[in-house]
Amino acid sequence: MTSQFRVSNLTKTFGSNTIVDQLDLDIEDGEFLVLLGPSGCGKTTTLRCIAGLETPEGGSITFKDHTVFDASARINVPAYKRNIGMVFQSYALWPNMTVRENIRYPLKVRRMKSAMASGQVETAAGMVDCGALLDRYPSQLSGGQQQRVAVARGLVAQPDLVLFDEPLSNLDARLRDQVRSQIHQLHQRLGFTAVFVTHDQAEAFALGDRLAIMKAGKIEQYDTPERVYETPSSDYVAAFIGMANRLELVRRHEGWTTRAGTPVDLDAAGIQGGHIGGDAALGRMRPDDLALHRSLDEAAPGDVGLTGELVTSEYGGRYFDVTVDAGGERLYLRADAGRHGSWLRGAATGSPLVVSFSPSALRAFPHPDGHVDLHAPELARAAARSEA
Ligand SMILES: Nc1ncnc2c1ncn2[C@@H]1O[C@H](COP(=O)(O)OP(=O)(O)O)[C@@H](O)[C@H]1O
Ligand SMILES: [Mg+2]
Repeated sequence: MTSQFRVSNLTKTFGSNTIVDQLDLDIEDGEFLVLLGPSGCGKTTTLRCIAGLETPEGGSITFKDHTVFDASARINVPAYKRNIGMVFQSYALWPNMTVRENIRYPLKVRRMKSAMASGQVETAAGMVDCGALLDRYPSQLSGGQQQRVAVARGLVAQPDLVLFDEPLSNLDARLRDQVRSQIHQLHQRLGFTAVFVTHDQAEAFALGDRLAIMKAGKIEQYDTPERVYETPSSDYVAAFIGMANRLELVRRHEGWTTRAGTPVDLDAAGIQGGHIGGDAALGRMRPDDLALHRSLDEAAPGDVGLTGELVTSEYGGRYFDVTVDAGGERLYLRADAGRHGSWLRGAATGSPLVVSFSPSALRAFPHPDGHVDLHAPELARAAARSEA
């Protein structure tokens, strides 16, 4: 496939802070790219640089074979000539314009003849089920309707690229799912090229053809949702996409173990982020990967079983969200309400229990500290509790 759109070595600073740090992105024609990262990592700044609303200090941005920004060649095409559609978190509709005038605005900027523009406005409004709202003002619309109008405005001029900056964040949960699904259907139907920014992993997995996981102005992993989900490239990515369980692992002469000494077969685990050279590693797992038991002999053969005690359990309908203290480490799991509900409901904090997992569910990374502190305070506390 031809690369439709390329960002190379993009750098943007504010004062002495480097907000976008030599960032590269390659987006294929028709691709829906999701930029996923925590608040403050530079997602909005990246989008604003692409749109031409910020001037980067370094790098280049090209659309097909057309350069819109190049710091060294001093090329900087103004925003209104970049043929980009934008959809913001805050909707940003003009309150004094009707829905029709709002959607028509990008065509007006591009000086499209009004007769032709009117047909396009109706088509765009129809695509997001807003055809009946054309003569209303934004204040007469619900949040979900306003955001759908903003989507129509972003798409109406058939831009080369559509930028979405957390467009679902201000909607309540039910509307968020509806508008998300509508954006997904529109993309499947129209095949526009998009960069969609979010801090929400569920949104990213649902919408993205590819995900770019961002950390402090850089891309940490750039891959398909499936590969990011199965093989996160770093502990940072693993934690960000829901692998909430963090288990420190120590290499002893008999092999890898937990801090408390339970053997863990790392040959069966996926090792990410390169070779684990030292005597310390970090394991990551999802809550779904842990099973709950009342005694060690209930764990499946070959699985790693850890003894611990109950911290809390929270009812969630078909499941309980359970927090366990396993030898000083906090582990989170989802327990089936049918199987465990009756005893979990009445179980007191501190009740003994067992968690187990298959080593194949574990993703292991080089330990960022290079060693595991076996005398860390939480472990000493746990030891003191078990002696008491
Ligand atoms: N115009 C600006 N002037 C100074 N600092 C800014 C400006 N815009 C953004 N920043 C800073 O850049 C960092 C990244 O911001 P932003 O790109 O909005 O992150 P995100 O969208 O990922 O939450 C933040 O620390 C923010 O305070
Ligand atoms: Mg932002």
